[in-house]
Amino acid sequence: MTDPRAQAGGSFVLDGQDVPFQPGDTLLRAATRAGRYIPHLCWSPEFPPHGSCRLCVVRIDGRTGAACTVAAADGLEVQSDTAELNGYRKTMLQMLFVEGNHFCPSCEKSGHCLLQATAYEMGMEGPHFEEFYPSRAVDASHPAVLLDTNRCILCGLCVRASRDIDGKKVFALAGHGLKTRLIVDSESGRLGDTDFTLSDRAASICPVGAILPKRQGFEVPIGDRPYDKHSLAQIAAGAESEEVP
Ligand code: SF4
Ligand code: FES
Repeated sequence: MTDPRAQAGGSFVLDGQDVPFQPGDTLLRAATRAGRYIPHLCWSPEFPPHGSCRLCVVRIDGRTGAACTVAAADGLEVQSDTAELNGYRKTMLQMLFVEGNHFCPSCEKSGHCLLQATAYEMGMEGPHFEEFYPSRAVDASHPAVLLDTNRCILCGLCVRASRDIDGKKVFALAGHGLKTRLIVDSESGRLGDTDFTLSDRAASICPVGAILPKRQGFEVPIGDRPYDKHSLAQIAAGAESEEVP
């Protein structure tokens, strides 16, 4: 049942400060618009929430919920930046790192990668868990885009972008649990055999280095990239709109 306090707009309290919201806002959408940072990986203001990464976990009037899916409501007391929640987020990040193959020092996305930046933000200093080193495919069949599923965190953003903006359904998530994987909708399963193009929204939305344009590697030097220069909290605080990575 919809909370009647969510319908008219108003404000809730996030870590002791008021955040205004509009009717239909989730906690994460309203916080982002207000320049307040709540960690997230699978959410973008362009799409309905996916609710899969659980990085946006917050406490709402004492209960736990995902800020990207919980409707903002007048007078809610929300905690996000606490030692307990950040510790939980750090564990989730460590699990994501060991489930895939993430070699940040050699990755073209370093300094522009939401996973890496969030790990720094949460104070992650190492993977903690034993690495899985899964065997995953690199698909270089497309003339303009490299698909390296070693780095995929299964956020589903490319799936939503291709379906909802590009109108193509190039990507899908298949399987369950640890066997979940990103697949490409072509008979061969290769990206080069789809109508995917570099100008598709799905080509530029990947928060990690799984979907990368070819022949643009290291055009911006390491050290000059957005997350090299600013923390995610600084970027959120400086944002004038919802265009926070
Ligand atoms: Fe997310 Fe990128 Fe994997 Fe697509 S390829 S599901 S955008 S991490
Ligand atoms: Fe909320 Fe991923 S951003 S679950």
